[in-house]
Amino acid sequence: MSPTAVNRSAAGSPADEAPVILETRGLTRVYGEKVPVKALDGVDLQIRKGEVVAIVGPSGSGKSTLLNLIGALDRPTAGEVIVDGTPLARVRNLDRFRGRTIGFIFQSHNLLPTLTARENVEVPMYELPLRPAQRRTRALELLALVGLADRGDHLPNQLSGGERQRVAIARALANSPSILLADEPTGNLDSKNTADVMALLSRLNREQGVTMVIVTHNTEVAAAAQRVITFRDGKILRDVPMSNELERELLELKSSPLGQAILRGENLPPALAELAPRLHELLEQV
Ligand SMILES: Nc1ncnc2c1ncn2[C@@H]1O[C@H](COP(=O)(O)OP(=O)(O)O)[C@@H](O)[C@H]1O
Ligand SMILES: [Mg+2]
Repeated sequence: MSPTAVNRSAAGSPADEAPVILETRGLTRVYGEKVPVKALDGVDLQIRKGEVVAIVGPSGSGKSTLLNLIGALDRPTAGEVIVDGTPLARVRNLDRFRGRTIGFIFQSHNLLPTLTARENVEVPMYELPLRPAQRRTRALELLALVGLADRGDHLPNQLSGGERQRVAIARALANSPSILLADEPTGNLDSKNTADVMALLSRLNREQGVTMVIVTHNTEVAAAAQRVITFRDGKILRDVPMSNELERELLELKSSPLGQAILRGENLPPALAELAPRLHELLEQV
């Protein structure tokens, strides 16, 4: 299944004109003291309202560190994160800020096993001044939005992996966040469920204008974004807008069986073998 195109127009990304909602300046995170690891190394980044950005790169390149800093789950060693014009360092109540502005989706969805799907979706709403009946109604609306209207009373272990991940998405949306941060949201899913979750995220972006930053290993997920940022050794290696159809096609080729065979250096039919080294080089760059 081809990835769902997100928020595109003939003139390129409509987000080109939108205000910057998320910015990092010289963002740096060093872990450990005896043997310091520079997980993030002076990252400058601007993300506009309504953009869908994929963050890719090898394991250990700093992707999760970036997401944790953007989401105020961790503090930088140096540099700053600015959300909607406000530097996080100046936010007094980070819990409240996080609860009202940011939705998180993790690879392991972290649903509470003893709560039903509906109750799990209600958890973040305790940050809001809602009555129990209002929480319940909103949770059911969100479950309907992710296609789980009839699963509200199920416990997590009574749901499939894909369904649990959709509950986690509903929970991430509970407080109407303006920014959704997702760390490998489809990491534990098969390709059918991956496509479903991506279609859902694309729809949320189109219909509700939610800005999304999605860390992923999955080239199909990346191809559905408007922009792909590649990390290497805690730095941005490449930052490519996907408004270019050819870039997108190249990413799709990369995830196809042919692209994978080229990348593995397998024996190819003679006509292709001649091109293989150049194609290999190209695919490594997307
Ligand atoms: N809590 C931590 N303590 C020490 N080192 C860490 C910690 N978290 C991440 N690192 C290190 O920082 C680097 C970047 O990690 P991470 O951001 O998790 O990468 P990615 O998400 O791209 O796989 C890695 O070298 C990792 O080992
Ligand atoms: Mg990670």
